[in-house]
Amino acid sequence: MPERSQKKIIVINGSPKKDKSFTMTVTNAFVKGIEQEGGVAELINISDLDITPCRGCLSCWGRTAGECVIKGDDIPMLREKLKAADRIVISFPLFFFGMPGMLKVAVDRLLGMLETYRGMMPSPDADLASRMRYARDGQGIAVISSCGFSESAAVFEPLREQLELILGRGNYTAIFCPELKALIDTGKGRKLPAYLAKVETAGVTFGKEGKLDEATMAELSKPPFMPETYRILTENFWKEQEKREGSDTE
Ligand SMILES: Cc1cc2nc3c(=O)[nH]c(=O)nc-3n(C[C@H](O)[C@H](O)[C@H](O)COP(=O)(O)O)c2cc1C
Repeated sequence: MPERSQKKIIVINGSPKKDKSFTMTVTNAFVKGIEQEGGVAELINISDLDITPCRGCLSCWGRTAGECVIKGDDIPMLREKLKAADRIVISFPLFFFGMPGMLKVAVDRLLGMLETYRGMMPSPDADLASRMRYARDGQGIAVISSCGFSESAAVFEPLREQLELILGRGNYTAIFCPELKALIDTGKGRKLPAYLAKVETAGVTFGKEGKLDEATMAELSKPPFMPETYRILTENFWKEQEKREGSDTE
């Protein structure tokens, strides 16, 4: 059998819950698939990093050729790992229809990784290399996000739009998982393992090709429950929470 090339795989976990993140349940299955194509993933929890917020000076775009003037925190390390990676997986919960604040603080500091704006946006269909200062051929970026609401098309729309403006249409793979906590809580018997098996298979494809087709992304982003079932599940969840009122949170 020919040896598989060892890929550099970076997983960024943007959930403040770190290893308790529901989204990471999906991400771990996806990464298991990627690793089957060679390579061992390195996990970076954003909440473990020391990150100073962007000062907005734009030096990284004009004066310092991509380098940030803020030194001494963890952003230079993160940038180098992102530049070197063959596969990047960014995992986070949806917070107010976008990425969690601490992840956005890190993303702002990575502005210098993008090409400068020169009076015209690259077309949404332009390839990744025309946007990224350091884009390498064959680099694949996947974004995995989960949320509580059912209306996935509507709630993920602002995030999808933001990602397309940053990375360009078709330049990233997206798996957006609505109703994920309920799937994890109630689907242990069949629904959850069946879903995670599909995610792992998709991870193998992403490991090989660096992207997924639209049909696979849509299939993995479907709400797992019928609307009435989910309404009852959420109703019961909040009733349980009200009973626990006053007791400690985890
Ligand atoms: C501050 C905050 C904001 C949230 N905003 C949304 C939201 O806009 N839409 C939604 O469907 N779920 C929202 N949620 C629910 C989370 O996205 C959901 O519970 C997610 O699956 C948690 O993932 P994690 O366990 O990986 O952190 C929010 C949760 C929090 C704590």
